[in-house]
Amino acid sequence: MKKIAVFTSGGDAPGMNACIRAVVRTAIFHGLEVYGITYGYDGMISGNIKRMHSHSVSNIIQRGGTILKSARSEEFRTKEGREKAYQQLKSLGIDGIVAIGGDGTFTGAKVFYEEYGIPTIGCPGTIDNDIYGTDYTIGFDTAVNTALEAIDKIRDTAAAHDRIFFIEVMGRDSGYIAVECGIGGGAEFVMVPETETDLKKVVKSLKNLRKSKSSSIIVVAEGDEEGNADLIMEKVKVKINDEDKEFKVTTLGHIQRGGNPTARDRVLASRCGMAAVEGLLNGEANCMAGVVNGDVAYTSFADCIGKTKPLKGDHLRLIEILSI
Ligand code: F6P
Repeated sequence: MKKIAVFTSGGDAPGMNACIRAVVRTAIFHGLEVYGITYGYDGMISGNIKRMHSHSVSNIIQRGGTILKSARSEEFRTKEGREKAYQQLKSLGIDGIVAIGGDGTFTGAKVFYEEYGIPTIGCPGTIDNDIYGTDYTIGFDTAVNTALEAIDKIRDTAAAHDRIFFIEVMGRDSGYIAVECGIGGGAEFVMVPETETDLKKVVKSLKNLRKSKSSSIIVVAEGDEEGNADLIMEKVKVKINDEDKEFKVTTLGHIQRGGNPTARDRVLASRCGMAAVEGLLNGEANCMAGVVNGDVAYTSFADCIGKTKPLKGDHLRLIEILSI
């Protein structure tokens, strides 16, 4: 292996830059040429590919976003698109790829590897923490801390006005952000896509809680099957039917995707980036470099995509017990 390429794809996540930096510097350390592909798979198709040097990744470890930009490519889903991408890589002599992203990124990488055989290793970059084969994904810790800071602030005003707040956090298919910022933020309830939300129980508990608490925080993952925070708030409000009680909704949205990565995210990103390059050099391919039980581990793309990562067993129980 002589020349590798690195790209970021899908939703950006804080720590992606730290991962790019680790890939570039590990590659140079081992005597490889390294290329950066801008705009993910779209850039691979259009040939938006440039040589990177050690100084190309200076002063980025602390920055959110991704210097290589990101995109969700429709064209790469087609055979013709992937053929164009292959020709671009072939013309530069790229013989190894590091793909930083989530399950959509790995789905594309797996198909591409199976069609053209360029060894590819993924790094788990998504705030959602919904990738099997790694304890945490790059960006998750930062996103949770951003949401937590917002919850703390909302709690102040909720308490001052005796209000019930529904706070919507990201997570289309995963409740990890909701659960962790819910525990950290002392939420009364957390609603997640992994478990059925029992609105009757929520209404009953909120009525009971009113005897001991004047305000409440309910964290809703955007993918909850009962709907978004606005819809859920309306449903609960109608059932509580108390004109003296005020209900408010805050949707945190993309604020959760930005900001300086936490120390945990920078370290995780650096470890995964180094492991991806060294994995390629050691003959690994068609897999993701993650961290499992504290140690670097390679998990096949098939498992990363096909297997679901359940919420930690005690997390939802913890919220129920600690909210009384
Ligand atoms: O996958 C990361 C994520 O932030 C999800 O939590 C969210 O549902 C989605 O991306 C939002 O995507 P976009 O930025 O394209 O609206």
